[in-house]
Amino acid sequence: MSKPLRKAVLPVAGLGTRFLPATKALAKEMLPVVDKPLIQYAVDEARAAGIEQFCFVTGRGKTAIVEHFDVAYELERTLQDRNKDDLLAALRASALPPGSIATVRQQVPMGLGHAIWCARSFVGDDPFAILLPDDLMMCDTPCTKQLADAYYETGGNVVAVEEVPMERVNRYGVLDIAEDKGRLVSVKGLVEKPPADKAPSNLTIIGRYVVMPEVIGFLSKMEKGAGGEVQLTDAMAKLIPTQPFHGLRYEGRRFDCGDKAGYLEAQIAFALKRPDLADSVREFLPRYR
Ligand code: UTP
Repeated sequence: MSKPLRKAVLPVAGLGTRFLPATKALAKEMLPVVDKPLIQYAVDEARAAGIEQFCFVTGRGKTAIVEHFDVAYELERTLQDRNKDDLLAALRASALPPGSIATVRQQVPMGLGHAIWCARSFVGDDPFAILLPDDLMMCDTPCTKQLADAYYETGGNVVAVEEVPMERVNRYGVLDIAEDKGRLVSVKGLVEKPPADKAPSNLTIIGRYVVMPEVIGFLSKMEKGAGGEVQLTDAMAKLIPTQPFHGLRYEGRRFDCGDKAGYLEAQIAFALKRPDLADSVREFLPRYR
């Protein structure tokens, strides 16, 4: 029986340099897609998978992220007085229950693995999900829910994966496949950012994970990997000899909102799903061909 998955760690301490100057005083994770910040998409997705406790790994200039999940009494009152029921519902849906958010500071952005290690007290002895909010997912079944279901089926670690063209594998953590069962892939190794000619496959890890707490022990060694950073992929690879480890070909689409073109595409794709916007977006888009 797998332990219930109730915790998520959301690393948000990165500098977001690819979006400067927008991210000079604003956290990248607060950039909106249509009318919701990236961080809220990630939190909503996690809640839909049964996550109840959230840990944001933050740094300087990121306080707005935590405030976003507060109750905003004055705004609620104003919207109530003006009978703006839809907006009131959207506002209320953005608050998290009392006591469900913890924050830890990373201070120096030394890499994703280091960010996760900073959440070690929060993780304790429990399995946990990791969501990178700049990977924005569009899935019928929320991506973290797909991972959680797979975790309850297989036990152990499960990471969301997708195939990329070989010339792009050097940007991702890559799976060394033991057995490809279609939707689920059992894994015998992981390599972070390999050159194309050294990559064991083109199946790459995206920003959604379910990881066992033992990963923290390997992260504590602070071994530096690709790019001189403490890499989560390297620590997860050390779990493979002793724990189940699977890749899940998730169903849906990912938008890399850490990248400008990916972020712009997400705006269009999400706007086209919105009944209040789809028609006007369809009308103006052809003007830019
Ligand atoms: P990125 O690799 O996109 O880095 O981080 P970044 O600093 O946010 O953005 P650029 O490349 O400078 O434009 C992926 C995720 O990991 C977090 C980021 O906040 C983001 O959610 N992260 C990264 C940390 O929390 N700490 C780190 O040391 C590195």
